Order: sequence, then C-alpha cells, then structure tokens
Amino acid sequence: MPKISQKGLAMPQSPIRKLVPFAENAKKKGANVIHLNIGQPDIKTPQIALDAVKNNQLNVLEYSRTEGSEAYREKVAAYYQKNKISVTADDIIVTTGGSEALAFAMGSIADADDEIIIPEPFYANYNGFATASGVKVVPVVSKLENNFALPPIEDFEKLITPRTKAILICNPGNPTGYLYSEEEIRKLAKIVLKHDLFLIADEVYREFVYDDKDHYSILQEPSLEQHGIIVDSVSKRYSMCGARIGFLVSKNKEVISTAIKFAQARLSPPTYAQIASEAALETPQNYFDEVKTEYVARRNLLISELEKLDGVKVAKPQGAFYCIAELPIEDADDFAQWLLEDFRVNNETVMVAPAAGFYATEGLGRNQIRIAYVLDQASLKRAVHILGEALKTYIG
Ligand SMILES: Cc1ncc(COP(=O)(O)O)c(C=O)c1O
Repeated sequence: MPKISQKGLAMPQSPIRKLVPFAENAKKKGANVIHLNIGQPDIKTPQIALDAVKNNQLNVLEYSRTEGSEAYREKVAAYYQKNKISVTADDIIVTTGGSEALAFAMGSIADADDEIIIPEPFYANYNGFATASGVKVVPVVSKLENNFALPPIEDFEKLITPRTKAILICNPGNPTGYLYSEEEIRKLAKIVLKHDLFLIADEVYREFVYDDKDHYSILQEPSLEQHGIIVDSVSKRYSMCGARIGFLVSKNKEVISTAIKFAQARLSPPTYAQIASEAALETPQNYFDEVKTEYVARRNLLISELEKLDGVKVAKPQGAFYCIAELPIEDADDFAQWLLEDFRVNNETVMVAPAAGFYATEGLGRNQIRIAYVLDQASLKRAVHILGEALKTYIG
C-alpha cells in the first residue's frame, strides 16, 4: 500500500467537526440539536449581493485576474480608506476566503521549521495552515481571568528565537471575543520592529465590535507599514461564508509580489463570488446597525445566563461572536460527547466546541468550551438552560 505523507498524518482534525457524527446520530434518533459549536451566522446575506449574481448577464464564467478584479480591488481599497486604513488596490490580493489569505501569508514569510508566535486560545485552523506550510506554532498563553487580553510583552520576548518570523493575532478574537486596544497594538508594533518580524492580524471580525469601542487595525499603525499583513474576509461581514472571498492586505511590496506567485498557482479567486462581494460593498449602513444590535443583545443574554450557572466562569466578549466558558468539569471533550449521546431536555440537546483544540499547549482549556452566539435569542436561552441542567446531572 503506498504511504501518505508525514505532513498529512500531522494535519490536525478540526476540534469543531469531530463531534459531528455524535450530533448526526442524536438527530437520527429524533432529538433537536442546538448548535453552539460553529460560527455559521443565521443572519441574512444582503439582498443586493444575491441579486447581483442572479441578474448578471455573463455568457462565459471566466477566470478573473489572479489578484482579483481591478474594479473590485479599487472598491475594497475605498472600503479600507473609509475605515482609516490607507491602502490602494495594489496592496490587496483577493483570495478564496480569509483561509487562503492565511495560507498565502504563511507561505510567503516562513520556511519549513520557522516559527510563528500566536496568543492562545486561537482559531484552531491556524494549526492546519501551519502544518501545511511546515511552520511551527509557538503559543503564548492568554488568560480567561483577564478576558484574554494581550499577554505581557515579556512573555512574547522570551519565545523569540532566530527562527521566529511573525506574531499572529486575531482581532477581535475567535474564540475569545477579545478586542485588542490601540495601546496593545502599539506594544506589538514595538516588539515586531525590535526583532524585525511580521505582524499578521486576522481582522475578519473587524465590523463586530461592541460597547462603542473602535477597532484599531494594525495598518492604522504607521510604523507597521512594512511589517503588517492583514487577513480579511467577506464571510462574516455580510454573512456570505459560502462565497469564499477574502483578502490579503499589505503595504510591503515584496509580501504582495510573493503572495501573488502563490495565487498564480491557483489561477484566480471565484468569479461569481467576486460579483456578489463587489455588490455587497453597497450594503446600506442600517444592515450593519441591525446586525450589531442583534449580536449585542445575544451576547448580553448569553453572558448573563451563563453567569447564573454554578461554577461557570465566562470572559465577556467585546467583539466577534464567540465566548469561552470555563465549566466545573475536568474534560470538556467527554462532556460535549455525553451531551450529544445521553442528555436531553424536552428531546433537545446542545453541541458545543471543546476548547482544548483552540490551545497549542497540551492540557490547557480542557475544562473550557467555546460558544458561538450565532442563533436567535430564544434558542440561546434554551441552550444555556440545557447546559445548566446537564452540568447538574453530569457532576452528580
Ligand atoms: C478567525 C478566523 N479567521 C479566518 C476564518 C476563515 O474564514 P473564511 O475562509 O470563510 O474567510 C475564520 C472562519 O471562521 C475565522 O473565524
């Protein structure tokens, strides 16, 4: 039998998807499963984006330019300028989702066995992209006790080696919901300049920032012009996860010209999805205002209900639509599986994402879960009630 690669064997399984067979089984047996485990928003895609695809008159669905259509990149540059990020179309590559932008970023700046420092817990797929690029993830621990704020800069400093190429942050954070302040971004800018590293910021949740706070992008920081790389996406911004459009953005010409070579290998980003995404830029402001109001209401409800549960600790998210909750149990993997296999309230159960998969340090996050608040408020309320009842039974 021919053997598959070591790299393939090392590819991590998604911590979110590994419980799917148990959820499917529960559904087959007639139970309703409330999905708190996955970041697929229930929010409607702007009609203007859907109509642009429906009404277009294309006769040939051709490749677009490798870096994305000129017209679209011009408009995306205008979007960034409106958000105080001063970039031009030449600084932007349209990618197949933020996912591909992450892969291009790692491929462009790191060789096999190079290191990227990432505050943990972090978006679990960073592990997958790092493994595919042969890059080593070096975690620096952020803590629930202080809402997963930026770890002390000395903690980063201790981890920097001759192989360190970058620090990667997610702002606001999945799975933490933490929003880095301007001051924290400045601290990161200082350390990457001191050690001549890249700072990659995954800003796919930029619009989802609450409590009258402002998002401070790494490319608003003038000193990061040559060191900053933004990973971005339309997936969550317009609830268009299936479009598969994202961006890699950098003022560093070498980064862009290198990433374009990776992009050339996959020819072009999807054409229909660019048409939809270009139209989505015309989405009226009230769409975003309504979405934000809804997420704030969901977050407030979720956090206040979780805080009522005995022994549960939760970090209050200021952005994105996730939170990490610590439960009075030892093994959230076991608990999550048990919920799907054995526990029901009125024939309903919940599916949560065990948080250990969002940590790179062995043993961390074992008593934590990640909750995505992408469901209506009534479902969220029922879900937390079920969690509370489940904890009482599970702990015994
Ligand atoms: C933090 C973060 N980055 C990147 C992505 C990738 O998004 P996409 O490839 O759909 O743009 C996701 C998706 O959930 C995410 O949560």
